[in-house]
Amino acid sequence: MKIEHTHAIITGATGGIGQRFAQHLVENGASVLLVARDTQALIVLKQQLVNQSDINEEQVNFFSCDLIDSEQRARLITYIEKMSTPVNTLINAAGDNQFSFLEDIPERKIEQIIKLNTLTPILLSKALLPHLEKQPQAQIVNIGSTFGSIGYPGFSSYCASKYALRGFSEALGRELSQTNIKVKYLSPRATNTQLNTDNIVAMNKELNVAMDSPDDVAQQLLHLLSSDKSELAIGLPEKIFSKLNQVMPSLVSKAIIKQLPTIRRYAGLV
Ligand SMILES: NC(=O)c1ccc[n+]([C@@H]2O[C@H](COP(=O)([O-])OP(=O)(O)OC[C@H]3O[C@@H](n4cnc5c(N)ncnc54)[C@H](OP(=O)(O)O)[C@@H]3O)[C@@H](O)[C@H]2O)c1
Repeated sequence: MKIEHTHAIITGATGGIGQRFAQHLVENGASVLLVARDTQALIVLKQQLVNQSDINEEQVNFFSCDLIDSEQRARLITYIEKMSTPVNTLINAAGDNQFSFLEDIPERKIEQIIKLNTLTPILLSKALLPHLEKQPQAQIVNIGSTFGSIGYPGFSSYCASKYALRGFSEALGRELSQTNIKVKYLSPRATNTQLNTDNIVAMNKELNVAMDSPDDVAQQLLHLLSSDKSELAIGLPEKIFSKLNQVMPSLVSKAIIKQLPTIRRYAGLV
């Protein structure tokens, strides 16, 4: 789909990656519906987009919503169905994480991570299918992660959520392959946003893990949206490790287990 024909809902729009998605999309002629919980942050983002980019104010709308709450989600769907410019692209980018070994992560946080990262994209996709089917062309883009292909210590719930999201994207893409709706999966590697706490950033530095800028990720999103690809992974070593993890997981385990003392130290488990 051409970017200028894209009318996208972006969940997690006020996040580090979501903001750059919104900016790159509107600068290329798309319209966006920004979704997050914090209304003030949405107002500020809309204003920034309108001020920074030479765009029409109608290109940017917002809706504040806790996506984990089913009633709020239902209100979002009703709002989308009534929009004068019909939405044709769902970008599931809202995400949550906590760097902790399983013994330390609260049960409530595990539930939040699975609900926001996995269940919400599935339920939003289902609720919007009838609407998307009516559009000449439509796309569902799920923002996964390298951790949707590599299980990494300290991120077990997050990895579970992204593995499931990748499986969902693959299955739904095949299910809808003969329809007007394309399902896509973008997997960024570590990216400089608030999702990564200072100890994650310091650990990545010590372990020589590269971190991208949110702009790099947004550029890859534009590439994926306008291509026929159904999946795009960011970062060459991460792509190789993901493939290797499928065919020779014991090799990848060996490399990661060497890092375990460092990972445990940064997770507060000395
Ligand atoms: N940063 C990375 O290293 C990295 C790497 C690979 C993949 N990713 C994925 O990329 C996506 C974006 O991540 P990010 O780094 O931009 O995260 P971020 O900066 O922490 O932003 C998270 C976004 O999600 C929204 N959000 C959180 N809980 C919500 C809820 N219950 N309902 C609605 N919105 C909610 C937040 O806004 P409110 O708080 O206002 O709701 C914010 O807009 C995520 O799916 C993440 O898993 C990130």
